[in-house]
Amino acid sequence: MIHLWKLVRHMRQLELHRLILLLIAFSLASMCFLAYYVTNSPKIKEPPPIPFNDCSSQQRIVVQPQANWRIAKSVDTSRTEPVVLVFVESIYSQLGQEIVAILESGRFKYRTEIAPGKGDMPTLTDKDRGRYSLIIYENILKYVNLDAWNRELLDKYCVEYGVGIIGFFKANENSLLSAQLKGFPLFLHSNLGLRDYHINPNAPLLYVTRANEVEQGPLPGDDWTVFQSNHSTYEPVLLASTKSAESIPHLPTHKALHATVVQDLGLHDGIQRVLFGNNLNFWLHKLIFVDAIAYLTGKRLCLTLDRYLLVDIDDIFVGKEGTRMKVSDVEALLNAQAKLRKLVPNFTFNLGFSGKFYHTGMTSPCHRCGNAQRRDCQQCGGAGEKRRPSQAKSINCTDEEDEGDDMLLQHRKEFWWFPHMWSHMQPHLFHNVTVLAEQMKLNKQFALEHGIPIDLGYAVAPHHSGVYPIHSQLYEAWKSVWNIQVTSTEEYPHLRPARYRRGFIHNNIMVLPRQTCGLFTHTIFYNEYPGGSKELDKSIRGGELFLTILLNPISIFMTHLSNYGNDRLGLYTFESLVKFVQCWTNLRLQTLPPVQLAKKYFEIFPQEKDPLWQNPCDDKRHKDIWSKEKTCDRLPKFLVVGPQKTGTTALYSFLNMHPAVTSNFHSVVTFEEIQFFNGINYQRGIDWYMDFFPMPSNASTDFMFEKSANYFDTDMVPKRAAALLPRAKIIAILISPSYRAYSWYQHQRAHNDPVAINYTFTQVITAGPHAPQELRNLQNRCLMPGWYTSHLERWLTYYPASQIHVVDGQELRNDPAAAMGSVQKFLGVTPHFNYTQALRYDEAKGFWCQLVENGKTRCLGKSKGRKYPDMEQSSRTFLADFYRESNIELSKLLNRLGHPLPTWLREELQNSSRS
Ligand SMILES: *[C@@H]1O[C@H](CO)[C@@H](O)[C@H](O)[C@H]1NC(C)=O
Ligand SMILES: *[C@@H]1O[C@H](CO)[C@@H](O)[C@H](O)[C@H]1NC(C)=O
Ligand SMILES: *[C@@H]1O[C@H](CO)[C@@H](O)[C@H](O)[C@H]1NC(C)=O
Ligand SMILES: *[C@@H]1O[C@H](CO)[C@@H](O)[C@H](O)[C@H]1NC(C)=O
Ligand SMILES: *[C@@H]1O[C@H](CO)[C@@H](O)[C@H](O)[C@H]1NC(C)=O
Ligand SMILES: *[C@@H]1O[C@H](CO)[C@@H](O)[C@H](O)[C@H]1NC(C)=O
Ligand SMILES: *[C@@H]1O[C@H](CO)[C@@H](O)[C@H](O)[C@H]1NC(C)=O
Repeated sequence: MIHLWKLVRHMRQLELHRLILLLIAFSLASMCFLAYYVTNSPKIKEPPPIPFNDCSSQQRIVVQPQANWRIAKSVDTSRTEPVVLVFVESIYSQLGQEIVAILESGRFKYRTEIAPGKGDMPTLTDKDRGRYSLIIYENILKYVNLDAWNRELLDKYCVEYGVGIIGFFKANENSLLSAQLKGFPLFLHSNLGLRDYHINPNAPLLYVTRANEVEQGPLPGDDWTVFQSNHSTYEPVLLASTKSAESIPHLPTHKALHATVVQDLGLHDGIQRVLFGNNLNFWLHKLIFVDAIAYLTGKRLCLTLDRYLLVDIDDIFVGKEGTRMKVSDVEALLNAQAKLRKLVPNFTFNLGFSGKFYHTGMTSPCHRCGNAQRRDCQQCGGAGEKRRPSQAKSINCTDEEDEGDDMLLQHRKEFWWFPHMWSHMQPHLFHNVTVLAEQMKLNKQFALEHGIPIDLGYAVAPHHSGVYPIHSQLYEAWKSVWNIQVTSTEEYPHLRPARYRRGFIHNNIMVLPRQTCGLFTHTIFYNEYPGGSKELDKSIRGGELFLTILLNPISIFMTHLSNYGNDRLGLYTFESLVKFVQCWTNLRLQTLPPVQLAKKYFEIFPQEKDPLWQNPCDDKRHKDIWSKEKTCDRLPKFLVVGPQKTGTTALYSFLNMHPAVTSNFHSVVTFEEIQFFNGINYQRGIDWYMDFFPMPSNASTDFMFEKSANYFDTDMVPKRAAALLPRAKIIAILISPSYRAYSWYQHQRAHNDPVAINYTFTQVITAGPHAPQELRNLQNRCLMPGWYTSHLERWLTYYPASQIHVVDGQELRNDPAAAMGSVQKFLGVTPHFNYTQALRYDEAKGFWCQLVENGKTRCLGKSKGRKYPDMEQSSRTFLADFYRESNIELSKLLNRLGHPLPTWLREELQNSSRS
């Protein structure tokens, strides 16, 4: 036995040796072969990939149309909000996230709920309006199995408000092979393998989707579900045949087409539905899903069929040697453009140039390859450098590419052109706007010398630098040198996720979101595409790139010079994409010049005109393209937000006495208040805002703050403040809202407000809906800030309660040392400053003032602590009534936050409960 074993082992070892030898011999042989091949073959690499051909099939399938579909109810859109209610399985469930991602890409409003098993249905109506215009169930069984009470509630809502339901049925290994969908005349057959996906041209929901194509071949997975019914309410949308010949019980032969997505026309129970027999993984389901949303919401959550496409080719002249375009590449570019123009009206490649690199390319390790340095030259060309050695002898390395440059310039009139920086420098590196403009002028000079048309009003900055976060110098220089009106970036508000990218307008320059197409300077060969060439094709054929076109009315793609030399992946990608889109969709692709494109964008999305500034230091990419001379430490650590006439100026001056606290510089227009977040100043950008704060000498001890008293009650302020200063602390001061209103009115009179002078306080607060507009405006400004609770709630939606502090204005007035003690504690500022020693009560003035040398005091200006007659009793009564509800809410809110109730609030609550 043992001998035999040894013998076997011996023989195995021998075999192993032989195998290794054989392997070595083989590798040597193949290396020689390769070396021979590489040095001698004129045609080494595969030719560039050929873009997809025309649509494959025109074979419309014949599905008997459901006779009744035309009676499907049209949706009454006037009674619901355009919001989608999505029932997900959990916050992490994959399908739920995909559903939400599509809604977000379409900029559709939605709300997610964990699908209640037995729990309560969220409130569906608000007075007489429906809160949702579409319901989506990640798992349709959660809907079907709702308890009777909730099911009736939901179904009644859907019928009454004309709201449809989209549901998914994803089979798993436990699913029954055949079952009836509880309560519906619909049978499900699960865990099938399918092939050859057809679209039913009669399905009423088809809008973007074109029905002509068939997705040939097996569909991924063996967990498909098909629907079967003899009820006329069900119209198939997508159909496929089974993969194997085995027949399904209750179903006709396997050759027949079975519905995997069906549309319920509402003939059964008055509710329209779309049911998917799988999830959204297969690309065609995403397309149908988008159509289903549009159909069920009466096209309210829907884009038009117009899609605008702009392809930028960046880095013209800049490319690395060996990767730039040659004459033949430029010819191919011109041909492709001509071909694309037949499919996409006015399609024109948009070329971005940096003149400094004309005829030189980017300086690479071997610079310009001379005659003797053939080796280095091949190196710098990288793996893709497949030049014939015999040619390299006669001409130097970049000649062919220089001729490519010249050819581009010869045909300059056939393209659009936009300027980059002269030497491809990042604008944020220039602090001095004059120097930045000089660089631009060099490029402009180059353009003029070479007759490059430069009237497009569009520019792009290298690496998005200076576009966002805003480098105001760039915007200034762009306007002065080039009269730029449009640019584009991927960085606003952040690079990822791409579906959140948005546009904005700053300093009259329209900034459009730019999309990613997966082609970077280094992706130049088809078979070296990251993840394999399959990935690129997947992205085009229903994947990311296709979805970008589907879900964005306007797409600007950035490609690079190198994507048009080498394997010409740029041409391959866009030709293939356009053809694929035209085979499968009714979308109307077209190209507009940048300025018209930007105007179109803000016509479609007017709400995006106003930017929302973020903190550049909260995103590493943003920080990297932000000027080193700017620092986020120049932003305030806390805000005193008001409201007006509650003692904000006193608090401001007390805070300034603290050695570690620093306020902003004064503004010439609005004095101590910057008023950045609430009005027109916000458009000036954060560079403007930061200029109001000193460069911190010692960041860890400088507690910088600003006070603007109308922040408290201005709608957009909390959102804007939280975007820029998410960690800031917020201080509000509250006094009796009645007294605040009175004091505010007196303040307006003292400042000669003509309307306030014209009317008595009683007239102001009691003005009815038919009073003159000016009076009602004054009334609003007088009374609305006093609804403390609703304003505080707004702050609380953007800031955690722990970052918000409410100062009792009455305490600040009567015992400022105590009030300031709590403020210091809240801020966590050190050292503790003893205000008992620093303040003195001024009998003459009637308030606390700063104690200075020799026992003298320095008080606030004479406008503060102004004397005026007491409020009339009738006004008191009126206002006590007016603010009663709001005060009760405030006490609840403060209790919830664990804040002590201010004395004035206790008193007002007691008084009002007595009356
Ligand atoms: C539909 O199918 C069900 C069950 O197979 C059957 O009971 C019913 O009679 C059919 N209805 C029609 C209209 O064919
Ligand atoms: C193409 O551009 C020309 C010139 O700008 C314009 O007149 C024409 O209407 C455009 N065509 C389409 C289909 O947009
Ligand atoms: C490369 O060729 C061009 C024109 O053929 C010539 O002007 C240039 O000087 C050459 N460069 C080198 C480094 O030989
Ligand atoms: C900007 O640079 C120009 C030219 O170098 C210089 O004359 C000017 O003083 C600089 N401006 C500032 C604000 O530094
Ligand atoms: C800066 O702050 C540190 C404590 O964080 C302190 O020790 C140091 O003295 C401060 N420097 C100046 C110049 O204030
Ligand atoms: C003052 O009030 C009167 C009467 O309501 C009105 O006619 C007049 O226009 C007002 N003047 C101003 C400056 O508001
Ligand atoms: C502040 O100063 C007053 C008067 O000098 C003193 O009575 C009080 O204890 C001090 N408070 C603190 C917290 O140091």
